[in-house]
Amino acid sequence: MNNIVVLISGGGSNMRALVQASTRENWAQRHRARISLVLSNRADAAGLTWAQQQGLDTAVVDHRSYAQHANPREAFEAEMRQHIDRHAPVLVLLAGFMRILTPGFVDHYAGRMLNIHPSLLPAFPGLHTHQRAIEAGCRFAGATVHEVTAELDHGPILAQAVVPVLPEDDAEALAARVLSQEHRIYPQAVADRLRRLSP
Ligand code: GAR
Repeated sequence: MNNIVVLISGGGSNMRALVQASTRENWAQRHRARISLVLSNRADAAGLTWAQQQGLDTAVVDHRSYAQHANPREAFEAEMRQHIDRHAPVLVLLAGFMRILTPGFVDHYAGRMLNIHPSLLPAFPGLHTHQRAIEAGCRFAGATVHEVTAELDHGPILAQAVVPVLPEDDAEALAARVLSQEHRIYPQAVADRLRRLSP
């Protein structure tokens, strides 16, 4: 059985969608993969509690505890790598993981790290995507699953979903509409990738 590691920072609804898809009948057999670790950079991430309740292996590497280190980002990532590499994962999935990763970390997982981003990339990389889409007058918004490369929110696009932006939308309403599509396309994109790994 191949291992998948999921990285979160908060609510973890995408992680939940991934876990739920991966525990559906036949999924493990068909893809010979399972989510073996949920790793968070925040101990208070709500998604962690849910993952523990499902009996999943969880870990916390708090980026703030490396603030005094000579190379805080490298030290934080080295600790994350230890946790992740213990599982020798075929995929590392960023699911609302809100830390920028160094090129060294990204290179280490080249070709096996995916991210979901709440915009139609290449539009609106970075933060506050929904507010920016509304302010720009976009008629459509959406979400993108992409392979992670050293450049933030770039990398080959694997899946996208489009939703309308309605005249009465605020960022919260638009985020909810986009999020429900994220829960659909991320598990699909992961299944597609696993099919390509072992057809
Ligand atoms: C999701 O909308 C995800 O696309 C976004 O954070 C939210 C996490 O929600 N990710 C990013 O903005 C990454 N730059 P979740 O914790 O409920 O999955």
